[in-house]
Amino acid sequence: MREYNLDRIDLRSDTVTQPTQAMKEAMMSSVVGDDVLQDDPTVRELEEKIAQMCGMEDALFVPSGTMSNAIAIRAHTSPGDEIVMERTSHIYQYEGGGYAALSGVSVALIDGQKGQLTPQSVAKAIRKAEGSLGHYPDGTLVCVENTANRGGGTCYSQETLDAIAATAHEHDCAIHMDGARIFNASVKTNTPVKRMLRDFDSVSICLSKGLGAPVGSLLVGSKQFIAKASRWRKLFGGGMRQSGFLAACGLFALEHNIERLADDHKRALHLANSISKMNGFNINLDSVETNMVYIDSDMGAQKLMQELANNGIDVLDVGPTAVRAVIHLHVTDEDIEQVIDVFAQLAN
Ligand SMILES: Cc1ncc(COP(=O)(O)O)c(C=O)c1O
Repeated sequence: MREYNLDRIDLRSDTVTQPTQAMKEAMMSSVVGDDVLQDDPTVRELEEKIAQMCGMEDALFVPSGTMSNAIAIRAHTSPGDEIVMERTSHIYQYEGGGYAALSGVSVALIDGQKGQLTPQSVAKAIRKAEGSLGHYPDGTLVCVENTANRGGGTCYSQETLDAIAATAHEHDCAIHMDGARIFNASVKTNTPVKRMLRDFDSVSICLSKGLGAPVGSLLVGSKQFIAKASRWRKLFGGGMRQSGFLAACGLFALEHNIERLADDHKRALHLANSISKMNGFNINLDSVETNMVYIDSDMGAQKLMQELANNGIDVLDVGPTAVRAVIHLHVTDEDIEQVIDVFAQLAN
């Protein structure tokens, strides 16, 4: 589906998608109200729909994934607590240190495999003030990212998710999933999100990534948790007024754009398989599970980005020698073949 008017192939992220005509029509026909006054019916419909899909009690529509995670951390913890997460996780790497600034918590980092935690590593990382003569902070929250973005877009096994949640709860910690791309994981592993989240206390889900909505994320959890989260959303400046226009895009995305994520995964794998056979490029094919391809290049990331850009292809650098290509709903089979051709020209 190539419904945007750029003549470039934009693989920088799945956040670059633009609303399709059908999504715009859903937006235009939506009924809106003032969501801060709690009377926007479209926002409410979206929140109720996602809560039901996740098997949780309630949800909150927020402007971004970053805000959703920040609110979750604030609602689950108290200043001086510690949270546990993987070293390459988005919350730690790319959310401006919000956990420290907005929640006053420290972080216990775990070096994972392909961006993933294990229950054993989580058990080891959780510290408690009690029994430490007050030396340790109180570990009160574990954050799991699924799919794991910097892990390559990898998916946790259900067994591991269940075991990590059990470990967190055994240690009196809440467990939050940064499920920015949870539907990529759900489609890839053929697991309903309700099952995936059975033992989780909260999840943040992005509508503005592979699902193709222009703006917005959903924080989902118990009624009590969402009531708390709602106060923090207001305090963080995330209360929106006629946000039903945006929620309408989210509803459209949940109804039309989940199953098709499998196409993105297929295209990503084809791209990865093809490039991995070329000299001068290196891809860990084991990590290519969903819509992302991390490519290591002998020519270095900056030169590769420039060469690709000269050929109408945009990617992001993620290190001195590595770039990332992300497949999304505007990327067609023809685009993938074109990208493969350009890489072939650059191979040595
Ligand atoms: C795993 C993950 N979590 C959270 C976010 C934050 O989302 P946003 O860009 O909407 O703040 C991203 C964004 O790319 C992400 O990849």
